[in-house]
Amino acid sequence: MDTPLDTPAYDGVRRTAPRALATEAVHAGRDDLARQGLHAPPIDLSTTYPSYDSRGEAARIDAFATTGAEPDGPPVYGRLGNPTVARFETALARLEGTEAAVAFASGMAALSAVLLVRASMGLRHVVAVRPLYGCSDHLLTAGLLGSEVTWTDPAGIAEALRPDTGLVMVESPANPTLAEVDLKAVAHACGSVPLLADNTFATPVLQRPAEHGAQLVLHSATKYLGGHGDVMAGVVACDEEFAGRLRQIRFATGGVLHPLAGYLLLRGLSTLPVRVRAASETAAELARRLAADPRVARVHYPRIGGAMIAFEVHGDPHEVIAGVRLITPAVSLGSVDTLIQHPASISHRIVDADDRRGAGVSDRLLRMSVGLEDVEDLWADLDGALGTAARPRRGADFIDIRLHRVGATDRSEPAGAGRP
Ligand SMILES: Cc1ncc(COP(=O)(O)O)c(C=O)c1O
Repeated sequence: MDTPLDTPAYDGVRRTAPRALATEAVHAGRDDLARQGLHAPPIDLSTTYPSYDSRGEAARIDAFATTGAEPDGPPVYGRLGNPTVARFETALARLEGTEAAVAFASGMAALSAVLLVRASMGLRHVVAVRPLYGCSDHLLTAGLLGSEVTWTDPAGIAEALRPDTGLVMVESPANPTLAEVDLKAVAHACGSVPLLADNTFATPVLQRPAEHGAQLVLHSATKYLGGHGDVMAGVVACDEEFAGRLRQIRFATGGVLHPLAGYLLLRGLSTLPVRVRAASETAAELARRLAADPRVARVHYPRIGGAMIAFEVHGDPHEVIAGVRLITPAVSLGSVDTLIQHPASISHRIVDADDRRGAGVSDRLLRMSVGLEDVEDLWADLDGALGTAARPRRGADFIDIRLHRVGATDRSEPAGAGRP
């Protein structure tokens, strides 16, 4: 059984006991439906909301400009908020154990809004730990939003902080190496600077960063939260004060989520625990088989588990991509079907090659997002695709993997990282 989520009631709905994650996944954001005589949540596609009381509207707009709190009653305009999207935000906040959540058109729009909130307060410096998702790395490195980044390892965070540091950013498990950080220790090192933990890979099913001290929890909701490869979205779970600032930035810059996407995300959340657990079980088994395979040099699998695997092959990784038949050779992750991609060519292509390799993203690394197919069918496909890659002369020597809990994990320095 799930651990009960020990956070207060919301929505004005009376609770007698905390509800488990699996229960929240199905009911959060929907608590009012039965009383309205509804079962499926309504989709509100309005872009504008009529009102005969323009004095009242002025007061509501003033209040939003001051606090960023969601206006009582219907939104004034679609960019101020949407009732269907709000249901998803309520549900995700509940799952992450935060006061609020603010949804955006994509994960990158969500990260941009966080950076803009801090830059608008004169706090443009970011401390970040590599690897991050390639575009997040690029956004920070290129300073596209006027930020300046100091890259460090977790142990160097406290020392890297400056008076103008507005944010510390980590991913755990990280894209694509699945490296993990000790979120509690990192949050401690941040002091009063907000820690943003990208929880896209773990999802609240495996880890709730806010419980470890992260003030901001970011998701590319395009991935597991949506879960079916048909929604682009991002979301930040945080306290109500930061959420207000995010809503103001969203209103001003326009990176809103479409209501239909909000509906699909809410639906996606209801199966999130089941999907993540089932795919994780398959991923752990595939990680074990890959680790024992002489064609594979190294397997990365997180200590906390999950449905992502990264592995380095002795042969040509492009041949593995070309060789899959059941598995889809595509970037992105978190869908019901299994996807595989070559980070150095796609998800992390935009990162400078030396920085990329320095972060452990070797040119031989493949990243696989395990879906809900049968494990034997997936293994048969992988086996066939690996068969087209050259076998090493000294295979087993390079296998660098430790089994941990449900699967294999690898925290050590690569035996063959960067090996041509
Ligand atoms: C860990 C992580 N964070 C953020 C993003 C960006 O999300 P989106 O593609 O929804 O903008 C991605 C995308 O792959 C990601 O993997």
